[in-house]
Amino acid sequence: MCGIVGYTGAHEASPILLAGLRRLEYRGYDSSGIATISDSQMIVRKKSGRVRVLEEALVVEPAPGSCGISHTRWATHGPATDRNAHPHVGHGGTVAVVHNGVIENHSSLRKELEARGIVFKSQTDTEVIAHLIAVELGDGDDLLAAVEAILPRLEGTYGLAVVSPRCPGQVIGARLGSPLVLGLGEGEHLIASDPVAILPHTSRVAFLQDGEVVRVTPHDFEIRHRERGSITPRIDRIDWKPDAGELSGYDHYMQKEIHEQPDTVRDACRGRLRKAEGTAYFGGLNMSPRQLRGIRRVVFAACGTSWHAALVGEYLIERLARLPVEVEYASEFRYRNAPLDSRTLVFVLSQSGETADTLGALREATRQGHPTLAICNTVGSTIAREADGGIYLHAGHEVGVASTKAFSAQVAVLTMLALELGRLRHLSFPDGVAVVEALESVPDLIAEVLKTEPIIARAAEKLTHAQSALYLGRDIHFPVALEGALKLKEISYLHAEGYPTAEMKHGPIALIDKQTPCVFVAPKGSLHAKTLSNVEEVRARLGPIISVGTEGDESLMSLSDSFLPIPDVPEIIQPLLAVIPLQLLAYHVARLRGCDIDKPRNLAKSVTVE
Ligand code: AGP
Repeated sequence: MCGIVGYTGAHEASPILLAGLRRLEYRGYDSSGIATISDSQMIVRKKSGRVRVLEEALVVEPAPGSCGISHTRWATHGPATDRNAHPHVGHGGTVAVVHNGVIENHSSLRKELEARGIVFKSQTDTEVIAHLIAVELGDGDDLLAAVEAILPRLEGTYGLAVVSPRCPGQVIGARLGSPLVLGLGEGEHLIASDPVAILPHTSRVAFLQDGEVVRVTPHDFEIRHRERGSITPRIDRIDWKPDAGELSGYDHYMQKEIHEQPDTVRDACRGRLRKAEGTAYFGGLNMSPRQLRGIRRVVFAACGTSWHAALVGEYLIERLARLPVEVEYASEFRYRNAPLDSRTLVFVLSQSGETADTLGALREATRQGHPTLAICNTVGSTIAREADGGIYLHAGHEVGVASTKAFSAQVAVLTMLALELGRLRHLSFPDGVAVVEALESVPDLIAEVLKTEPIIARAAEKLTHAQSALYLGRDIHFPVALEGALKLKEISYLHAEGYPTAEMKHGPIALIDKQTPCVFVAPKGSLHAKTLSNVEEVRARLGPIISVGTEGDESLMSLSDSFLPIPDVPEIIQPLLAVIPLQLLAYHVARLRGCDIDKPRNLAKSVTVE
């Protein structure tokens, strides 16, 4: 989704801003732009398309200056055109603004400004902010005061960066509901919507809170809160593995991240498994065993892949802990006024920690007075900071828009959570030890599955020309099927739907023909014989069959056009293995179809608007 980078210091701003924008490309965007201040002049360049297009434009028409702001836009109001790209310039050319988020009252503000004779150049909601600040600034030169004065008029969410030729060397940032981080360098300061953009310059950062405004100059910064006045921020240090943003020999980040999953699961489990007690333990939950034992219901709220992981968690917790679990779409939960009692434990799951719908769900549960917990990957993200406690995934930076390793880390964490909750109830010590041992074996088993990539790449050829595919799984494999279908949709643009296997008979079976493959997630388990009957039903209707099954499963193999094997393991860890072939299948289909795998159309890495 949209990205912001701002810089003020001793160096030329535009190369630093462009490098920052490139680091944000993974988030998804459709245009980009830059504004710099040089000799009290403001230079604005913006282009639809990739950052590379902006870069080429800057070769022809440079943007000099050691202070500036930049943006990657993911279109919400108005299509992806040069005009709609940010920065937007306020009336009289006195300010330039970049903005993440949505201004919900933009129409009425626009009418008001137009009535004053101001002519709009774009269809965006952001342009109203630029004009409001310019009008407020008037002939003055206190940009911070002008920004602070107009912010109460904005309804909605924003992360903002503002520059003005009246205030060379200054960048103003503001945050309400859309993240902004300040980077503290030597003789330079940066602001960004995502620390990834600025970490090559500094690892010392301060996360702005909602309602805060910052003014940065090369040697100084000042943060103010709209109600609390001057703020001394907490300075965090972010660990950064230098190669985390590199492809390391892989063709795409998605492929790299799929192959990182043995380490992902290892890191997620590190220090959390207690074999001697046959359980798992999370320090960050901030809940005593007595409090955890008192829980009578668990509610998960999440979106997309995180929602699918939560569904796996539902099966795991119900199975190991016999606790009722509900999995909610965060976007529905936040407005549904769901009845929650005091013995309900509310978890939100989010890789990015910035998903607006999930954050909304967290805030709704908090508003109702419930302690909230987060399962999150991004350290210091808004969700991680606002939750009362939680569990970090430790999956490392996930660049691919199609989430892969975060899913595995989430499922590993949920397996451990189910184990801990189970051991606080009726789960026996030997059964607990068996789960610990199964989890310990997962990294090496994922590595085994990854070796089957050539088989999966061949199976992908069978899907490449399909119009549509069904993904089917029973019980704990139903969410895995949903996740496989989502991966295919996201990066190959093929229509795919996930269903519980037996549900196929109740409608989707009408779709099956020679052109509509069915992908069965069918490792051996308690319901295997029933699944085989469903496979037969598809075969009888000439539907091509791709199946993920237990190695050596002759029955399934003989019914399948392509058989993707995983090792023979206990059901409880099967989802962690079965998802790997599905991720690789989607990857290879997209590759064969020539899709832009790391920048799939219309998608954003973290969805920070409702
Ligand atoms: C996953 O491949 C998707 N890109 C998307 O569904 C994602 O999982 C969803 O937007 C939730 O993101 P989060 O985990 O960062 O909150």
